[in-house]
Amino acid sequence: MTKPSFYITTPIYYVNAAPHLGTAYCTMLCDVQARYRRTAGYDVKFLTGMDEHGEKVAEAAADHGFDTPQAWCDSQAPLFRDLWEKIEISNDDFIRTTEPRQHHAVQYLWDRMNESGYLYKGSYDGWYCVPEETYFTENQVKKSDEEHETQGQHLCPDCGRPLERVQEESYFFKLSAFQDKLLAFYDEHPDFVQPDFRMNEVRTFVEGGLTDLSVSRTSFDWGIPVPFDDGHVTYVWFDALLNYMTAVGYSLDDEASRAEFAKRWPAQYHVVGKDIIRFHCVIWPAMLMAIGEALPEHVFAHGFLTVRNSETGEAEKMSKSRGNAIAPQDVIDLMGVEGYRYYFMTDVSHGKDSAISFDRMEQVYNADLANSWGNLVSRSLNMSAKYFDGKTPALADGWAEKDNPLREIAQGIEARYAACMDVMDYAGAKDVVMELVHAANHYIEDTAPWAVAKDEARAEELRDIIVNLLESIRISAHLFAPFMPETSAEVFRRMSLEGEETTDDLAAVCEWGGLAGDVPVTKGDALFPRLAADKK
Ligand code: MSP
Repeated sequence: MTKPSFYITTPIYYVNAAPHLGTAYCTMLCDVQARYRRTAGYDVKFLTGMDEHGEKVAEAAADHGFDTPQAWCDSQAPLFRDLWEKIEISNDDFIRTTEPRQHHAVQYLWDRMNESGYLYKGSYDGWYCVPEETYFTENQVKKSDEEHETQGQHLCPDCGRPLERVQEESYFFKLSAFQDKLLAFYDEHPDFVQPDFRMNEVRTFVEGGLTDLSVSRTSFDWGIPVPFDDGHVTYVWFDALLNYMTAVGYSLDDEASRAEFAKRWPAQYHVVGKDIIRFHCVIWPAMLMAIGEALPEHVFAHGFLTVRNSETGEAEKMSKSRGNAIAPQDVIDLMGVEGYRYYFMTDVSHGKDSAISFDRMEQVYNADLANSWGNLVSRSLNMSAKYFDGKTPALADGWAEKDNPLREIAQGIEARYAACMDVMDYAGAKDVVMELVHAANHYIEDTAPWAVAKDEARAEELRDIIVNLLESIRISAHLFAPFMPETSAEVFRRMSLEGEETTDDLAAVCEWGGLAGDVPVTKGDALFPRLAADKK
């Protein structure tokens, strides 16, 4: 049977600074989903990459003393790739908008747009925010207070930074023609934008009216040339959004590319931050409507990671330009990659903004990983090795049908977990697994295997207890694998179940009864050593 395709993308990141926790967060959200879908039987394509054109990147290149923006981007690409590898990002592709495949696709897009009747030449006279790479009309901009250091300047309504005045010949995309079509599309696809409240924001924005979008630049040259008009380069967002189709063969005419495009497009999920919803939920769908391509199934918009400003006490978006960005390495140093992934994926809200703190990280790590999950694994493997001669107990016929409290919780656990994972409710999915982990820890206290082991007449009871614990661990390791892939692989190794994590039938492997009996078991080192208070 052919597996259904599941195509998921991150935004492509501007190459203006090294990645920080905020950028890594978005990539990790996708990674957990991609890993989960692979185990659930999908043929996954997970794309991430870099957005290398535009004024912002050209300025960063100049600021860093590079001769060309390309040389700057080339110097930064390894930082992104290396970080993704370090934090166990399992992307299948890494696109850079300066690659020939993107150049080809963007020029092909220009020709399709030209034929569509939704493109016209005019001149743009208005404001431009370089850090946000966004146009603003006179009515949208804020004028700063004369007293303030930005005296009388026009400021970006989104980020508050000074705007640039732009007056230039430009091609325009007739975005205004898509208001009704977009509203009708949202009505037919109420779950297009997730979570729900973001859908309402998008709808309200579109109901307010749309203005045509300037999609080429002439005062500036770091971009893909417009194929039919020398001197015009593509507006960075018009270029960037197309990456999602470029990576699955859009614009290529050979049979393999056409088959890939037919299989992968439309994407199931674009995961983006709330600041770029308008590009993904309004402009991108309108572009696709104009050229007659299918729209993505869902755009999931997450909030920002924020940090508390020690002077004002206010929560601020973490960003390089605010100087409050935390390097992923700082968190890795504190609690390892697996702890890092667990905390950000299960404790941080994925819809709204979330203030993060090292205190909270430590608390979650110690409570959930050191004291609960890690402790359960150590105690259970240790007892199995101790009481069964370095092995898991030999399994008695019918063991998996025997009633016990852990088996009861494990019934239907995969379905409860999947219902959360399918909608990116990772905190909910974690609670489902933790219920089994906590129950197993209580079961150890309630059954007191160390006492049972002293009485030879209770050998069968001891075997049942250990088997039930090991089986709970095996199932929990499967369900935790998208969050902590290396830990789960290690748990499987210690139970002589190497390679279990590569399953593509999660429902089947989570059935009670998959344990291997009478095989070597290794206690190993603590998976999550407790953090000492001074390790911050
Ligand atoms: N290049 C565009 C995206 C083009 S997609 C076709 C862009 N790049 S970005 O590097 O500025 O931001 C990329 C993503 O990182 C955005 O989704 C943004 O929301 C996210 N984040 C940047 N800082 C963040 C936090 N502090 N918290 C969470 N996500 C944040 O926009």
